[in-house]
Amino acid sequence: MLAVTCTSQSMTDPLTGLTVGERPDPIVPDGWTTVRLRTAALNHHDVWSLRGVGLPADRLPMVLGCDGAGVDADGNEVLVHAVVSSPGWAGDETLDPRRSLLSEVHDGTLAEVVAVPTRNLVPKPEGLSWEHAACLPTAWLTAYRMLFTNADVQPGSTVLVQGAAGGVATALVQLGSAAGLRVWVTSRDAARGEQALALGADQAFTSGARLPERVDAVMETVGAATWSHSVNSLRPGGTIVISGATSGDAPTKAELTKIFFKQLRVIGSTMGTRDELERLSRFVVDAGIEPLVDSVLPLADAREGFEAMVAGRVSGKVVFSI
Ligand SMILES: NC(=O)c1ccc[n+]([C@@H]2O[C@H](COP(=O)([O-])OP(=O)(O)OC[C@H]3O[C@@H](n4cnc5c(N)ncnc54)[C@H](OP(=O)(O)O)[C@@H]3O)[C@@H](O)[C@H]2O)c1
Repeated sequence: MLAVTCTSQSMTDPLTGLTVGERPDPIVPDGWTTVRLRTAALNHHDVWSLRGVGLPADRLPMVLGCDGAGVDADGNEVLVHAVVSSPGWAGDETLDPRRSLLSEVHDGTLAEVVAVPTRNLVPKPEGLSWEHAACLPTAWLTAYRMLFTNADVQPGSTVLVQGAAGGVATALVQLGSAAGLRVWVTSRDAARGEQALALGADQAFTSGARLPERVDAVMETVGAATWSHSVNSLRPGGTIVISGATSGDAPTKAELTKIFFKQLRVIGSTMGTRDELERLSRFVVDAGIEPLVDSVLPLADAREGFEAMVAGRVSGKVVFSI
């Protein structure tokens, strides 16, 4: 089958280890099934794997990809939930200490066929296009859990999204706005701020700008570059939900004094549960949300999408058609 594989790793030149070509079909363990993918999408996770973060070298070659939608062995149209919990685990699978994501231990979704645990299949709602379905299982699921499980906000609350154009950031803007939150964004680029306004954000600011008032919650995926601004932008008792650190995980100042003095909550958030993915897919359809898609590329041209992500040129999601 055609697949996009991590064959070697480099922190500074991640695309040297990207191979697009033939791979054997996946082995299907007991309790697992296969999905013939129609669409898959790119995430920063795939770039981290190529940089050697989160994917040990002794597991290579590894088919990349956490996002996918396709047709299962019984002919059902499904989304693929990427969080693989350990055998016998019950409850929130993101809290399983032995969980992994597709492409960390088992081959991922940037391929014609993926093997997944049967419980990881989520019915694709009618009315959700294949392109939009591929966007949901990773960046959009992460955004959904950040906002609706971990942020402790209600309609009318003000939420600051650090970064405007990324996969998670655009999902936060579109979901938050549809749910009645007042969504503010920051961006390094005025045009990307404008785009966020078109997606439903209420105000857009230059990265690091002083805000007109303090916010109830900050959605943080940028990390070191925005950490101090996130802490300074919160009202006393407010919440930072952090799910990523694209610019690095060692900010110049940890801001510990401000965090305890203002009694801030700092909540880590990773992916989401299968049930959250099912609710997200229903919400997207019922609310008429169309995830922002940067581009749709044939899987054979995946390198083009990776190059755009590494260069920071992506707005929304890069989707691969298979
Ligand atoms: N924990 C999880 O489960 C989970 C799930 C999904 C993603 N993540 C992580 O979340 C992060 C974002 O993922 P993504 O897929 O949305 O990536 P992406 O599409 O590449 O987005 C990158 C974002 O970072 C912003 N940014 C602002 N300042 C930056 C700086 N100095 N350097 C680099 N980027 C900066 C960009 O905003 P502007 O260009 O508008 O400034 C853009 O919104 C990644 O680190 C990813 O690994 C974690």
